[in-house]
Order: sequence, then C-alpha cells, then structure tokens
Amino acid sequence: MLLLGIDTSCDDTSASVVENGRTILSNIVSSQSDIHSRYGGIVPELASRRHIEMIIPVVDEALKQAGISSTDLSAVAVCNGPGLIGSLLIGCSFAKAFCYSRNIPLVAVNHLEGHLLSVFLESRSPEFPFLSLVVSGGHTSLYLAEDYGRYVELGRTRDDAAGEAYDKVSKLLGLGYPGGPVIDRLAEKGNPQAIDFPRAYLPESFDFSFSGLKTAVLQFLRRENLLERPLSPDSELIHDIAASFQAAVVDVLVRKTEWAVKKKWIKRVTISGGVSANSGLRKKMLGMGKEKGVEVFVPSVSLCTDNAAMIAAAGYHRFLKKDFTGLDLNPRAYLPIDSPQIS
Ligand code: KG4
Ligand code: ZN
Repeated sequence: MLLLGIDTSCDDTSASVVENGRTILSNIVSSQSDIHSRYGGIVPELASRRHIEMIIPVVDEALKQAGISSTDLSAVAVCNGPGLIGSLLIGCSFAKAFCYSRNIPLVAVNHLEGHLLSVFLESRSPEFPFLSLVVSGGHTSLYLAEDYGRYVELGRTRDDAAGEAYDKVSKLLGLGYPGGPVIDRLAEKGNPQAIDFPRAYLPESFDFSFSGLKTAVLQFLRRENLLERPLSPDSELIHDIAASFQAAVVDVLVRKTEWAVKKKWIKRVTISGGVSANSGLRKKMLGMGKEKGVEVFVPSVSLCTDNAAMIAAAGYHRFLKKDFTGLDLNPRAYLPIDSPQIS
C-alpha cells in the first residue's frame, strides 16, 4: 500500500511516498530557511507564496524518487493542522485536487500526530503504551500514547515552545533562523555550567515554561552590554551562553519526562519534533534511559524536523480504519491532537 504524504504546515514544503506506513521510498523537503533567516523568524505570507511555487515540483520529485506514478497510490495523507493557516491551505488544496482528479481517498493528519508517530519509520519502534515528548518550534507537550489515534496530553508549555526559545535566543545572539541547529553546534564547545540560567520545573505538573529562560538570556546580554555589539561566533563567551542555555532547556525536558515515567509506570519513551534533533537532548534522554532502565526511542535526525514521511506514516493507520476525509476539508491553525479530523 503506497501513500503520498504532504506537509506544508510551516516553512518547509514536503512530500513523501511511504509503503505500508513504515518504509520510506522518498521524503523530499524543500526548506525555506534562506528566505526567512534574514528576518529572524518565519514570515507567514512569504511562506505561503513559496509553498505555491514548490508544491508541484516537490510532489513530482517524491513520485520520481520513489520510482512510481500517481496511479500507484492508494491514498494521499495531508497535514491539515496545526500550523500557519496560509501554508496549510496550499497543501490541503493541492491534496484535495490531486485526490479528486485521481479518484483516491484523502486522509487528514494532525501535524503533532505525525511527529509522535515518526519513530515508527525506524526499524526499532515502541509498543503501546508509551510516553512521548513532542518538542518543536510550535509545541512542547508530553503525551501518553495509548494506541494509534489515542493520545492523552499530560502537559504542555504554558508559554514558549522549546524550539521557539532556541529561535528567539538565536535572534538575540545575531545567529539567525532557525536557531536550534546553530546553538546546538556552538554548545558543543561551551561550558554548560558557565552561566546559571533558570530552570522552570513547575513541581507536581507536567507543564513546561521557557519564557523565563529566554528573558534570563536577554537580561544577561543586557547586563554584559552585548545587545548592541553582537558577539563573534568564535568567541568563548558565545559558546558558553549556548551551552548554558541548552543545558537549562534539556535539563527540564529530561527531568519532566523522567518524572512522567515514575508517575505513570511506563518504561517506554519517545522524543520527536525539531528539537529532538538536538544532540544534548538526545544524549541526556538516552543516558536517563540507561540509568533508569527505560527504553528510549529517538527518530533519525532527518525525521525530527518537519517532513511528509511522518504524515504518510500517521495517515496509514487512519487509512486502514477507512478514516477518510471529504473534499471539503479545511485546514486549522489550532488543532489539538485528540480532536476529530473533521473538515
Ligand atoms: O518540528 P519542526 O521542524 O517544526 C515545527 O513543527 O515547529 O521544528 C522546528 C524547530 C525550530 O524551532 C528549530 O530551531 C528547532 O526545531 N530545531 C532544533 C534543532 N534542530 C531544529 N532545536 C535544537 N537543536 C537542534 N539541533
Ligand atoms: Zn513540526
């Protein structure tokens, strides 16, 4: 069974062909980072315009790399939210027209479910139930995944997502967008104990908070008069700031997950979403797993950030249940993972 996945939820145009929800035949991601980096964040209007330009070539390339034609497809799985509404509209409109013209079913997939199930594209994947930390530019939530399509949100960020904090701190440091990969790289050579940035542990809650940490970095830079004269990316201090900030983010993410393991008695954990590409988070979460006897599942780096293979993988399970959507499907900027995929 071959599904075409499509994701245009944010600033990447992606199409992928996945066989039986597990085997990736192609996974094309056209990044828009070069367009948005000079603004220090995504400009929604520019993102939608670029999706319009890229959607047809990206789908063509996905079919070509998979070595199939559109008539070989059983269905299309498209992300209909959450995300930027103008961006989502392009993917959804394209998918509806594609399905209508080929008379094949359309499956709507929640972007967060895509991230959550991305570990199933790896050869080693968890059994249900498991705890799942979805940590990206738009979301930071901890779920209890009971089965396909059954997810209980245990906690979420009360303010900024972890990836958003990375992007904002990167902007403060003059490092551009996206901030995660560059801060991750700089952190490698820095001292994580150099600056004692705050950790919001929010006791007795599975919620997160990262806005105080972001403000603490801003105050540090202001105190040291570093806002007007940006640091050189080679300086020792910028490495130390990156490492200390990253340690604060990672400590909270891992500590909360560890607490959920203890409270819920579930010894299987997955991490996914753009921030799960972070080397510090991967290392510390795997270390926690080893120490506490918890199985930790981490997708390969290319499956952490936005991609359509995860949408096709999640869509496959809905396809098997004949959970199709009508051609009147509408995208939703706000779409909780447990809401029905109504149009
Ligand atoms: O999942 P994703 O591609 O898009 C959303 O659904 O938001 O995540 C993008 C986010 C950005 O905030 C980016 O800075 C962050 O993931 N990110 C990272 C790393 N790679 C991407 N954050 C920390 N370390 C990384 N290596
Ligand atoms: Zn995402």
